[in-house]
Amino acid sequence: GDLYAPERPNSKGLDLHDRRDLARLEEARAPFRTHVWEAGPMLAVPGGAGPVAEVRNPARPDDLVGQLRDTTPVEAEAALAAAAPWQASAKDRAAVLNRAADLMEALFGEVFALVTREAGKTQKDAIAELREAVDFLRYYAARALELTQPPRGVMTCISPWNFPLAIFTGQVSACLAAGNGVLAKPAEATGLTATFAVRCLLEAGVPPHALQLLPGPGAVLGAQLTGNPRVDGVCFTGSTATAQRINRTMAAHLAPSAPLVAETGGLNAMIVDSTALPEQAVRDIVASAFQSAGQRCSALRCLYVQDDIADGLLKMLYGAMDELHATDPWDLSADLGPVISAAARDGIQAHIDIAAREGRVLKQGKVPATGYFVKPTVLKVDSITDIGKEVFGPVLHVVRFKARDLDRVIAQINGTGFGLTFGLHTRMDSRVAEVTERIRAGNIYVNRNQIGAIVGSQPFGGEGMSGTGPKAGGPAYVARFTRPDAATVFA
Ligand code: NAD
Ligand code: ALA
Repeated sequence: GDLYAPERPNSKGLDLHDRRDLARLEEARAPFRTHVWEAGPMLAVPGGAGPVAEVRNPARPDDLVGQLRDTTPVEAEAALAAAAPWQASAKDRAAVLNRAADLMEALFGEVFALVTREAGKTQKDAIAELREAVDFLRYYAARALELTQPPRGVMTCISPWNFPLAIFTGQVSACLAAGNGVLAKPAEATGLTATFAVRCLLEAGVPPHALQLLPGPGAVLGAQLTGNPRVDGVCFTGSTATAQRINRTMAAHLAPSAPLVAETGGLNAMIVDSTALPEQAVRDIVASAFQSAGQRCSALRCLYVQDDIADGLLKMLYGAMDELHATDPWDLSADLGPVISAAARDGIQAHIDIAAREGRVLKQGKVPATGYFVKPTVLKVDSITDIGKEVFGPVLHVVRFKARDLDRVIAQINGTGFGLTFGLHTRMDSRVAEVTERIRAGNIYVNRNQIGAIVGSQPFGGEGMSGTGPKAGGPAYVARFTRPDAATVFA
């Protein structure tokens, strides 16, 4: 096919139900079962020596995954000085990004091993992770060809650990597609996967001054990279609180014209009314709440189920939770992996413990005793507003509502101030129309699960406290990283 075609099809990924795909997967990832990656800053002007930390597998903390060296403040200063836009035509940039996508796809065994051992991804999630990264590269490459404006200059990209390849690659490739130089600071927990992505991009032909990787702590290094006037804008994905901090740092040090594109947290709800198909609803609730151990910004946090069907539906849900296989995600049968760290596990557990003291635990599933696992849990609440914060793990809150309370339910959901994803299960067309019209959320899903947005066809991003827009994987995203100049030529 034509490498420059504006709409290349999305990556096909691997089919775990196909025995040939399974054999390919096993063969490709086997060499990385015990590999120890060594990584650190990747700078235009290399040098320096910073603290090195061990990276350990959250499912099996005795498994050493790698050694990661942090960036020193002096190195970061040098990187800021060396950073410059990517001086290449849009066509050449697109070709390089497409080549990086091909490279990543070819190295799928290393990708799966990395995201499983560094971030605790199940194989299903690992496949989705690679597909999304590749889709971002190709989609943004295509968008580059449509641009009419020059780049902003130098962009800082700051990413979270929960999509260590996909979101990291998405941010960086969008900024590069527009022709910017990029300073990328990955999440502390997933620097090895970010290093892999940068390796592919450099090998594909991105020049070193246009893409530098700076692993290190958010509070220190992140602040340095978002508070330096050499930076022309920031692309951030992570928690709402961090976005607000970055906003303050930028306001104090950067030009007012420097954009902050921030994709942030959510407190996502689903409404299941009495006309819903219970089997389908349960399948979609389980996927939305517990896939990726609930560590998706899009994950379902609060289920509103209509009283008339609640007993039967919850019983089926608890049965489905008993079928979830929680184990080391290297095992292909794993449905549920660990959460990212001991600290994350303890924070989620503290939330469950409070509910337990108040007698609000409705159901818990089983998990292994070692590794940072959290039992998939269902908690009773009276309203989504009682949850109070985004609990980033496999914890589902349930509210029962009566048909006459629908207005109040919608007001409660909108009242959180977040607006990332929302799910609805109903067989009434009039209800679909009414609820989707009134709910304020960036991504609304009807009669399906509410995770796993697809690049190009489901641009992803929230409203209100959940993000600034434009949506990632959508037509306006790359253009946001160009300068909105207007030149009028008299001819
Ligand atoms: P986080 O906000 O703790 O960290 C995100 C990144 O910000 C990390 O790289 C971190 O080092 C950096 N950082 C921290 N403090 C900083 C500072 N003062 N200045 C600059 N950078 C700083 O988030 P996390 O725990 O890594 O990720 C989970 C969060 O991300 C959840 O809230 C989730 O909802 C959100 N998320 C949102 C989306 C989306 O598309 N809306 C996608 C994935 C994750
Ligand atoms: N894009 C990711 C999802 O939809 C966050 O789950």
